Amino acid sequence: MPGTCVIGLQWGDEAKGKLVDILTEEHEIVVRYQGGANAGHTVVSNGQTWKLSLIPSGILRDGVSCVVTGGVVLDPASVIKEIDGLESRGVRVDGKLRLSDRAHVVFPWHIAEDRLLDGIVSGGEAIGTTGRGIGPCYRDKVGRSLAVRLGDLYRDDFRDRIGHVVDVKKRLFAGWGAEAASIELDADAIHSQYMLYARRLEPLVCDTTAYLLDSIESGGRLLFEGAQGALLDIDHGTFPYVTSSNSSGLGVASGSGVPGRWIDRVIGVVKAYSTRVGGGPMPTEQINAVGEHLRERGREYGTVTMRPRRCGWFDAVAARYTARLSGVDELAVMLLDVLSGLDEIRICSAYTIDGRRVEHFPSHVDDLRRAEPVYETLPGWQEDISAIRRYDDLPAAARRYLARIGELLGRPVSIVSVGPDREQTILADRPAVSKSWPRPQHPAPANA
Ligand code: GDP
Ligand code: IMO
Ligand code: MG
Repeated sequence: MPGTCVIGLQWGDEAKGKLVDILTEEHEIVVRYQGGANAGHTVVSNGQTWKLSLIPSGILRDGVSCVVTGGVVLDPASVIKEIDGLESRGVRVDGKLRLSDRAHVVFPWHIAEDRLLDGIVSGGEAIGTTGRGIGPCYRDKVGRSLAVRLGDLYRDDFRDRIGHVVDVKKRLFAGWGAEAASIELDADAIHSQYMLYARRLEPLVCDTTAYLLDSIESGGRLLFEGAQGALLDIDHGTFPYVTSSNSSGLGVASGSGVPGRWIDRVIGVVKAYSTRVGGGPMPTEQINAVGEHLRERGREYGTVTMRPRRCGWFDAVAARYTARLSGVDELAVMLLDVLSGLDEIRICSAYTIDGRRVEHFPSHVDDLRRAEPVYETLPGWQEDISAIRRYDDLPAAARRYLARIGELLGRPVSIVSVGPDREQTILADRPAVSKSWPRPQHPAPANA
């Protein structure tokens, strides 16, 4: 069967980029299908570090085709900057990279709206977006009347369309207060700039849906690279502290145009602990020496915004939920080396909410805010494990920790990462795991 997908099961930055780079060897096409320049995926190889945002992490390998589909919101300036950055380091993209003519285009007004509205929409706490115009661009996509797709840049009426959108945006901004009203939107300047982008990108733009369906039907092997993490999924994440796309496994088909029936391997990627950037509840957050240990050893600073990431213990309630939601077959546990040096390690295996033990992930963010973690405590290990390449050579405490994660999530741990480099990876045998997650307990709806 031809399709593998890599899905982050937490709040993003699970080291999906590293894993995609490794798995690219077994695939012909790597596909980014949702999100946009909010993603920052890191690949380290031969002492060189690559930061990818819109371009699939497969671009670093020869003979691989990389596709950005219509589910992505595409900022042409970002993608051009990324292409230039890659080419200046000897990685050619032409002939390898395809961009969907269905992808919605990010414009300066989206970036302005992102900055203006973050924090206002969610009442007390700001979402803390990456400021890349992602939410506003998806909002216009769903709203339709002000949306522009990449293919529209090549149509005769593009100048008229820009004029119309700028006109409406100006009127909207005028009602949003002095700061918004002072934002300058010059339709001629934006049109000229985007025509330059259009000409530069033209050789890469095509109908990627047709390309992917043709490829898969003729036996091509596709690797789908999720962006963000499933807890940031617009429909199933910690709403409203989420991103604006389906970042769980549920988004693969709609974002790429490839039906789910073609996907036979779903790899759920987790860090060996939890991190989160931006606002919203995070039950296992550690604002103490443990949090500092994780942030400093894991270099937990945002790839895109450089913000310090919030750090905490592994949350098995959340990851079990997202593993089920994403149809995960197996787990990749990344950054295990970061836990070295802790005397004991905790895993959250249930919550207490208002004095009641809860084993499912709450659907309302206010309930999640009140959730207190119930921890299991496991022994830690002191050894540096970053040079270990065989599962059996890991310290017993590390193996026990991995086994417990697999047990709690009901999926085998098949890949373990002990450092950022491609080489620092352990491909474990896939042990059988007893599916020991608790039986569902669905409290009756309040109005039942
Ligand atoms: P992504 O968005 O899921 O691709 O993840 P990011 O690239 O934003 O963040 C993961 C970070 O962890 C990057 O800096 C990686 O180089 C780094 N990394 C990946 N795997 C490991 C690992 O096993 N150990 C350590 N210490 N760092 C890792
Ligand atoms: P990768 O692909 C971590 C977070 C932001 C913010 C929320 C909404 O590298 O894992 P947005 O700009 O999308 O409207 O922001 O989502 N966020 C990420 N956090 N990794 C990411 O991507 C993220 N992309 C968005 O911090 O809380
Ligand atoms: Mg990232």
